[in-house]
Amino acid sequence: MYKQLLRPIFFSFDPEKIHHFTFSLVKFTSKIPGFKSIYRSLYVIENPKLERNVLGLTFKNPVGLAAGFDKNAVLYNELANFGFGFIEIGTVTPKAQEGNPKKRLFRLKDDRGIINRMGFNNEGLQAAIVQLKKNKGKLIIGGNIGKNTQTKPEDYTKDYLECFNALHPYVDYFVLNVSCPNVGSHAKLNDKDYLEELIGAVQKANGTFATQKSIVLKIAPDLNNAQLDEIIELVKDTNLDGVIASNTSMDRSGLKASPERLESIGNGGLSGQPVKDKSTAVIKYLSEKSNKAFPIIGVGGVHSAKDALEKIDAGADLVQIYTGFIYEGPSLVKQINKAILNRG
Ligand SMILES: Cc1cc2nc3c(=O)[nH]c(=O)nc-3n(C[C@H](O)[C@H](O)[C@H](O)COP(=O)(O)O)c2cc1C
Repeated sequence: MYKQLLRPIFFSFDPEKIHHFTFSLVKFTSKIPGFKSIYRSLYVIENPKLERNVLGLTFKNPVGLAAGFDKNAVLYNELANFGFGFIEIGTVTPKAQEGNPKKRLFRLKDDRGIINRMGFNNEGLQAAIVQLKKNKGKLIIGGNIGKNTQTKPEDYTKDYLECFNALHPYVDYFVLNVSCPNVGSHAKLNDKDYLEELIGAVQKANGTFATQKSIVLKIAPDLNNAQLDEIIELVKDTNLDGVIASNTSMDRSGLKASPERLESIGNGGLSGQPVKDKSTAVIKYLSEKSNKAFPIIGVGGVHSAKDALEKIDAGADLVQIYTGFIYEGPSLVKQINKAILNRG
């Protein structure tokens, strides 16, 4: 029904407007008696064989919603009825910020992709906490954290720490997002020495809490093998708990969209089917080269059960979707879980 009926309507509107409309629709319908059960009966599969023990947590199933969809943690309770095993909120920054000027979100329909330069638009840490206090506890929640765009390089760590300390009681694992291509001044966030310092500072803060939360790093799909070797070293040296591979890509080669269309869109990170193989290659490299030394959450271009199984076969312990959810609809989550069960 989604692809035949809803998607053509949704895709006839501005992508960002329809994103907000869909949020209101899901929020509204979830309050109507009976709808929650309808959503659950359509989309949720519960089977102990889908459970995964990763990052010190037991996930009901290995399919998650990637960061950026529920940036402000306003819909995760309702999205829990769509079959996900976990939902990553954020990227949350200490202060609220508007992000880049609109238009900043573009569909590449022929490529089944999206280009975005949202620029960490979010309502800030305190607003996210207000929402997270309403957690009905149905799912594992990841907290994806970043720095404000205006923050000076010498204060980056302070921003991450502020988010980490304040969100610690409310999320189950943390993601240090150091790979968004849309917020500028990222040279420092690609520097291994700085990342070591950042991870060390966050881990030290983690140690001050009664219970520690797993911390993972979200990386770009555009890293070469030498850079991936550095990531493996970094994870080993810092005892980091895992890696999310990957964020959106700066590479636009091989797209069906015309050069004129791409030119008119301008800057932004590419997601969806065009990044699938790149992100899978990164997962495979990290997994093989490290001898499966740490958990990997695989994300990038999962639009079918087959795509998700490819990520798992490449070494991903869990998978996430974002663009595939927009193009293929909510039944994608169930399709992936069914395929995992069918493989036994
Ligand atoms: C509109 C949009 C906004 C995003 N915002 C974030 C974000 O705030 N933080 C983050 O870590 N990733 C963000 N992402 C990246 C996704 O989480 C994911 O890593 C990437 O899109 C690749 O997966 P996909 O091909 O399934 O979309 C965003 C992606 C899109 C399309």
